Amino acid sequence: MSSQFHIAIDGPVAAGKGTVSRLVAERLGFVYIDTGAMYRMTALLAKQNDVPFSDEDKVTDLVKGAQMDLRAPLEESEKDGRLATVLLNGQDVSWQIRTEEISSGASQVAALAKVRHELVAKQQEIAVGKNVVMEGRDITYRVLPNAQLKIYLSASDIVRAKRRHMQLLTKGTDVAFDEVYKELIQRDDRDTNRDVDPLQIVPDAWVIDTSDLTIEQAVEIIVGRVGAMLEAA
Ligand code: DC
Repeated sequence: MSSQFHIAIDGPVAAGKGTVSRLVAERLGFVYIDTGAMYRMTALLAKQNDVPFSDEDKVTDLVKGAQMDLRAPLEESEKDGRLATVLLNGQDVSWQIRTEEISSGASQVAALAKVRHELVAKQQEIAVGKNVVMEGRDITYRVLPNAQLKIYLSASDIVRAKRRHMQLLTKGTDVAFDEVYKELIQRDDRDTNRDVDPLQIVPDAWVIDTSDLTIEQAVEIIVGRVGAMLEAA
């Protein structure tokens, strides 16, 4: 294998990116990087500092001054269903960044060009010299444009809203399906129609529709393809 193998995965909310990426990384012994967690940490920073999600300069300053770390959940206390342990200035915020308020805030700060500039640089730095599975919205064309494998993971709106609804109910958040559906469509709309680096399907992406696939099936076909690529290399 060459010194680094990069798998870039983009896709809309609740397409299964997180779980699939984490399991693919585990199977291959790669590092899993959830870039959405970095936009979420940014929204949390803004909230903690009473900075509006739309204040580009102030939010960017907060990002510049912050230490953001992501790692596999190693400690026993971290094995609570999380996909990664997320540390903001050394503090474990893995669950604090998963609220509906922070989800919405993350998609608002993600529309700010200067914030994206800072976070993309941090993400590229993390990937240098490593085998990674990195997932987000702009990984295939902005963060890792030379990735060996580019994937666009999608699923129908209804399937994605059902998955999101189920996740929330499992966490004990009792919310109506219609609310979840509306919020998901709003977030998709913001992520797809923003001016800077919107979510898009690049021509060389392998599009996988997970509507009728189990997580295991999606993982299996990706791992199979990587295996074939490595054998052919
Ligand atoms: O994947 P997620 O839902 O945790 O991402 C949170 C928000 O961050 C989402 O609304 C889109 C944005 N995001 C982005 O713009 N670019 C990325 N690479 C990752 C996430």
